[in-house]
Amino acid sequence: MIGFWLLVSSLSIGQKTFTIEELAQYNGDNGMRYIACDGLVFDVTGVAVYEPGGSYPMLVGKDITVGLAWNSYEEKWLNTHPYEVKLSPNQQKAVTSWKNFLEKKYKIVGTIIYPEAEEKLEEKQEEL
Ligand code: HEM
Repeated sequence: MIGFWLLVSSLSIGQKTFTIEELAQYNGDNGMRYIACDGLVFDVTGVAVYEPGGSYPMLVGKDITVGLAWNSYEEKWLNTHPYEVKLSPNQQKAVTSWKNFLEKKYKIVGTIIYPEAEEKLEEKQEEL
């Protein structure tokens, strides 16, 4: 149900939803480079820091929320879905300010969805 409403809301603002697997396709191989932070997907195509030889090619095609929160590029954080970890209030603040920074700079191409998280949530609600 939550997934349905996410889909409706994103369609109504003319945007796409991405699963983590779909986002991974935008790693530069098809010419496009996207990153996700705090639920939003940004188009960073053509931005030198995300290209090979730049500072951040390892972030491309990934949800970098948890990496930003921990200030770490370690794969374990970059591949950790935000719903799986509990961020401290300070980490959440850091993530929000990164999102604001990216929002000012880049075009938002969609939102990221975690179907497994929604399933878990629905299971929990059914148990209540
Ligand atoms: C020693 C650690 C780090 C240093 C010294 C550093 C330094 C910087 C600097 C100077 C900028 C440019 C800021 C600006 O344009 O206002 C930047 C941008 C950025 N950093 Fe880092 N950083 C570090 C770690 C990280 C980590 C761990 C991540 C991600 C997991 C990260 C992700 C980013 C992103 C996404 C940007 C924005 C690039 C853009 O303009 O699109 N940084 N960093």
